[in-house]
Amino acid sequence: MATPDLPNGEARPYEPAKGPALRRITAGAIKRRKGGMPVPMVTAYDTPFAQFAEDAGIDWILVGDSLGNVVLGYDETTPVTMEQMLHHTAAVTRGTSRAHIVADMPFGSYQVSDEEAVRNAIRFIKEGGAQSVKLEGGVYEAQRVRAIARVGIPVVGHIGVTPQTAGLGPGYRKRTHRDRLLEDALAVQDAGAYAIVLEVVDFEIARELTEKLSILTIGIGAGPHCDAQVLVMHDLLGMYPHSPPFAKRFAEIGHAATDALRAYADAVKTQSFPPA
Ligand code: KIV
Repeated sequence: MATPDLPNGEARPYEPAKGPALRRITAGAIKRRKGGMPVPMVTAYDTPFAQFAEDAGIDWILVGDSLGNVVLGYDETTPVTMEQMLHHTAAVTRGTSRAHIVADMPFGSYQVSDEEAVRNAIRFIKEGGAQSVKLEGGVYEAQRVRAIARVGIPVVGHIGVTPQTAGLGPGYRKRTHRDRLLEDALAVQDAGAYAIVLEVVDFEIARELTEKLSILTIGIGAGPHCDAQVLVMHDLLGMYPHSPPFAKRFAEIGHAATDALRAYADAVKTQSFPPA
């Protein structure tokens, strides 16, 4: 339908429809936050919790493959599949309108070849609605970071403890090998990543990396000197019984949920609900 002109005959200027923000925050805008106020990031796996995060002012959300541990009941992230990650990424996208969504590439989705890594990264953008992807690894995976970045998809790296392979050998202990961490971080940066997760890295090394890199460092168990911090939603809300020691619990939603469910069950059993 044609928009009527203004009473004075001038054409009515175009006005975008009112509603959710038309454009999500870009990787470039996030990268410009380097060196400013520390940036909060949180994981989310479904629509309501993604919405809670955005409503709380968190505009950088990771659909982590920690999905495997905290939502799907696995002991590791290793079994998580592309289809599971796509399903949950799309749910997080639907729950947000402005936040920048980072989809975690699961184990096996990027290691085999550049071609497969690019194909799977594209699926996260087209089917999941994500704005960037994350993958684990330093020097050895830098080539994959480069391949994905080259097709225009922003990439987040991840070094230090890398949970997809930690259970296969290297383990979860704090990473303190300064030269190796620096080499890995620089390789990921040079390959075109716009940010990098430092997981369970010595605090002073994390500080040095943050100073030396031009891309954002995102700390988790890596101390206070990083450009950004990320926590797993279920850890910080007290919904997961096996939280790592560095993950502060900002609430006890697990207890609150159990109490509410017990109250409901009691109300049904005693016939106080539903009311007559
Ligand atoms: O999967 C995840 O939640 C992550 C964060 C711990 C960084 O990779």
